[in-house]
Amino acid sequence: PILTLDDLKRIAAYEAVEFVESGMVVGLGTGSTAKHAVARIAELLHEGKLKNIVGIPTSKTTEAQALALGIPLSDLDRHPFVDLAIDGADEVDPQLNLVKGRGGSLYREKRVESVSRRFIVIADETKVVEKLGESGGHAVPVEVARFGWNVTLERLRTLFESSGCVAKLRSNGGGEPFLTDNMNYIVDLYFRNGVAYLQATSDAIKRQIGVVEHGLFLDMATTVIIAGRLGVTVKNN
Ligand code: A5P
Repeated sequence: PILTLDDLKRIAAYEAVEFVESGMVVGLGTGSTAKHAVARIAELLHEGKLKNIVGIPTSKTTEAQALALGIPLSDLDRHPFVDLAIDGADEVDPQLNLVKGRGGSLYREKRVESVSRRFIVIADETKVVEKLGESGGHAVPVEVARFGWNVTLERLRTLFESSGCVAKLRSNGGGEPFLTDNMNYIVDLYFRNGVAYLQATSDAIKRQIGVVEHGLFLDMATTVIIAGRLGVTVKNN
């Protein structure tokens, strides 16, 4: 049988859930790959193979899924330390740096994953790139406060103008701006030839007034599990 992309996502997700142990506080990622991990955790809880799991969802969507599946949930107020987070990514480079947030959940994801003792990224092989933001359509998402968003967008655009960067306010498809779970906007930065200096770019975006967070996840993943048609690759940082 030919494996679909969704099969690959599920394979990577199930591999990651092998690392979940009873009693853990688990960061629950967001997106079409992470949702398989959430479903698998629920399944193991119901089978009694996992016990006393507390999930910290990284979006309202994941919270709804986990609630529907009966996973006990908490938040960073009550559980400021997370044992293990499992989440997808939009791009993974050879150093295990990531672009995330094309689904818009980057702030909550980064907040949770940065306090996780271990952060396992799960992806199908189409997410692997040589350089982050490489191809024209691959944006680096930036969550910005709504107040003065246009000024923030313009600052970001001029900041990276010389590297051929195009900045666009994300739309919700219905003619309105896309709204994050935190009621902010997303500005997508399209770098013509990918992001050259990752740390410097990350720092420069973060320094702008109005920027809440961005989708470059540098040196955060401890493990990346890539499922491909020829098998599964696990890389550790
Ligand atoms: C959500 O904002 C993102 O960071 C997702 O984790 C990322 O987009 C991966 O999603 P898929 O697994 O659906 O590709």
